[in-house]
Amino acid sequence: MAANIAIRTSAAGTGDRGLAAAFDLKRLDRVFLDDPYPTYRALREHDPVHPMPDGSYFLTRYDDLVEVYRDAKTWSSDKKIDFKPNFGDSLLYEHHTTSLVFNDPPVHTRVRKLLGPTFTPRALMALQPRIETLVDRLLDAAAARGSIDVIDDFAAAIPVQLIGDLLGIPDDERGPLRSWSLAILGALEPVLSKEQFDIGVRAVAEFKAYLRDLVARRTRDSAHDEREILSTLVAASELGDAAGSRDRLSELELLHNCIFLLNAGHETTTNLIGNSVHLLVENPDAWRDLATHPELIGSAAEEFLRMESSNQLGNRRATCDTKIGGRKLPANTYVHLGIGAANRDPAQFPDPDRLDIRRHPNRHLAFGSGIHTCAGNSLARMEGQVALHKLVTRFKSIERVGEFVRGGRARFRGFRHYPVALR
Ligand code: HEM
Repeated sequence: MAANIAIRTSAAGTGDRGLAAAFDLKRLDRVFLDDPYPTYRALREHDPVHPMPDGSYFLTRYDDLVEVYRDAKTWSSDKKIDFKPNFGDSLLYEHHTTSLVFNDPPVHTRVRKLLGPTFTPRALMALQPRIETLVDRLLDAAAARGSIDVIDDFAAAIPVQLIGDLLGIPDDERGPLRSWSLAILGALEPVLSKEQFDIGVRAVAEFKAYLRDLVARRTRDSAHDEREILSTLVAASELGDAAGSRDRLSELELLHNCIFLLNAGHETTTNLIGNSVHLLVENPDAWRDLATHPELIGSAAEEFLRMESSNQLGNRRATCDTKIGGRKLPANTYVHLGIGAANRDPAQFPDPDRLDIRRHPNRHLAFGSGIHTCAGNSLARMEGQVALHKLVTRFKSIERVGEFVRGGRARFRGFRHYPVALR
């Protein structure tokens, strides 16, 4: 697989106008889903503001993405128009149009402010020891077995615990979280099958009912634990202390933003860890370098985020006639932000296809930028750093022992299975 990536990447080195011209996000093949970077390179070089058959545009240059992210007045995140055709009046529509990420100010500003206290350095410090204990336990089990599936036995277990702790979900109730999250986020893929739609709607219904019950239990509790997002959010909602305040969350906002937090922090972080392990397996020199210099874990994690961003796509809609990358776009134009493409733009990152765990500066866009910058970026960074630091310092080597299975998604890039032996 590594050889494949290298060969196709360099084959596209001289550019490929045909590849760029034919690109359509609604018609992606397996070759693209396995390795989108040659196509991204062709687009960046030949058609960086690429028109697609449905009238939308695909952006691949770093500077163009930054410009869009920074101007939230011209570039709206509100998805009410965009989600209607796929989601109709379903619960998927209710969920995705209520979460803060798909709203503009003032709704976005109000909800983001209410979430603020839960993402402070103090909240983070309180969570780190539990993550360290969990990672040690997972690696003890891995050492005893000798081989593991990186996703099932390691990467996926970490965010489940963190998010479960944040929301105060009892251990024995965490079972369905991952499949709910996969189903709800899966519905955001560029093409949605009837089956994916039905699974997504069912997941929102079950998740919402579960959270409504959890919130009822939490509201009855008199003790307010500041480390828990849920307690903080209930207090800030019409169900809690802020009942009379104009800045409160409605019950629907409370439920859907909790669902969003669970989803946002889940698959993306699993994939950050899985994708990083893949990069280390493919680059044994980097593994050795990091094992010898574990103090590099901070810059290494940034480089993993840049090279294989677990969230590869963002979207915005123009609120007025505008111009991007020298191209005029009329009001209402829908654009796809190619995060994975921008993060390999040679104009910003010298030798962008090379893994360099010492890369500096490394202003990647894996967490977006501007007013919607990932609110959980410090949490994700902490989880990734703890997991990878402990992995490389505990084992001398890692080796793949069987075929990996990719997630097969364009927006959320990662693996479903990744079998390795650890020595
Ligand atoms: C490696 C892991 C993660 C990646 C790659 C990631 C990526 C992103 C990106 C690109 C955005 C911006 C979306 C946009 O501008 O349209 C975003 C927003 C967001 N993320 Fe993350 N995320 C990660 C982990 C987390 C975690 C752990 C949490 C929380 C527990 C979280 C919570 C959020 C929230 C609340 C937003 C919305 C912010 C807003 O709209 O103001 N994320 N994330």
